[in-house]
Amino acid sequence: MTLVRVLAFSVVVLLAYTLFANILPQVQSDPPTDEAPVAADGLDMPAMIAWGERLFSGKGTCTLCHNDLGRAPDLLKLNLAETWADRLGNANYEGEAKGEEGAAAIEIYLRESMVDTSAYVVPGFGKKGTNDTVSPMPAVDAAPISLSEVEMNALIAFLQDRTGVDVTVPLPTGDDGEDVAGDDEDGEEEGPAESAQVALDKYTCSACHDVNDSGADAGPPLHSLGAKLGRDGIREAILDPNATIAEGFEADMMPDDFGDQMRVSELDMIIDYLMTLDAKGDAQ
Ligand code: HEC
Ligand code: HEC
Repeated sequence: MTLVRVLAFSVVVLLAYTLFANILPQVQSDPPTDEAPVAADGLDMPAMIAWGERLFSGKGTCTLCHNDLGRAPDLLKLNLAETWADRLGNANYEGEAKGEEGAAAIEIYLRESMVDTSAYVVPGFGKKGTNDTVSPMPAVDAAPISLSEVEMNALIAFLQDRTGVDVTVPLPTGDDGEDVAGDDEDGEEEGPAESAQVALDKYTCSACHDVNDSGADAGPPLHSLGAKLGRDGIREAILDPNATIAEGFEADMMPDDFGDQMRVSELDMIIDYLMTLDAKGDAQ
């Protein structure tokens, strides 16, 4: 009798584990970290700053480029309290923060860096061949990153706080509308992307690669890859980017965790779609 009970118990435990293991990948593929706190309109400044920090490595995808690999200035090491005057005083600075001082100038400069990225290009970081007049950074209030006004404020709060100056951005009010509730709440992000083009934006491929007419050039254009790599080569390039490095580019530039983030259906859609693109990036 006892033996039967023990066995029955083991079976239940095993089933529970199996079930859990099957559910887990789906739970993980949801974007969990950077949603707006539930009551964003009641947020205090420390919570706003903490939210900005999550956006920095999460939805904002800032750490894809702003890290210690040298593709973009390492924002976590940058001391804006020291650099702002130099940035604004530079002859190439064409932005709106001229004449402002200190924390106020830093707020304008940071916002501009995100939405009007070529207003000032940090020397040595411009798009190739543009003599540092055009920034390779995509505007983060547009697709694919699509941050809201409130989310950008949270990022500015985080970066101002890190730099040790006063945080000058306003706290969210109830009037900020849907942005405050968080873009993810409508469930759009939950399901798999409905087309390859949407998936390429969702996973920020188009922020680095010329695809969907993005013109981005941090990585090679995703054109005529069918002939170059074939289906298996494309799959490997996405799941294990460092297995082969595209000519003219360096290792460790492309994130290597897309395999953990993507649904199988999304990966297949992307591969199918890339297989059809000709040398101009048009679908055949
Ligand atoms: C695809 C790569 C990429 C992404 C993603 C990206 N940036 Fe940048 N960013 C750059 C590059 C390259 C520069 C330097 C050229 C320039 O000044 O525009 C830069 C410059 C900046 C600067 C000015 C730095 C300075 O030294 O004055 C700020 C501030 C900034 N980015 C903030 C952000 C934030 C915040 C995010 C996320 C919401 C972000 N960036 C996402 C590539 C990127
Ligand atoms: C942060 C920038 C970045 C992001 C985001 C990114 N890539 Fe890349 N990708 C690169 C760079 C740089 C290379 C070239 C170095 C290498 O081969 O690893 C590359 C290489 C590739 C290649 C090989 C191209 C060739 O000509 O051999 C493919 C295919 C590719 N990426 C697809 C994707 C897809 C699909 C996504 C989105 C799921 C994506 N990449 C996201 C930067 C990026």
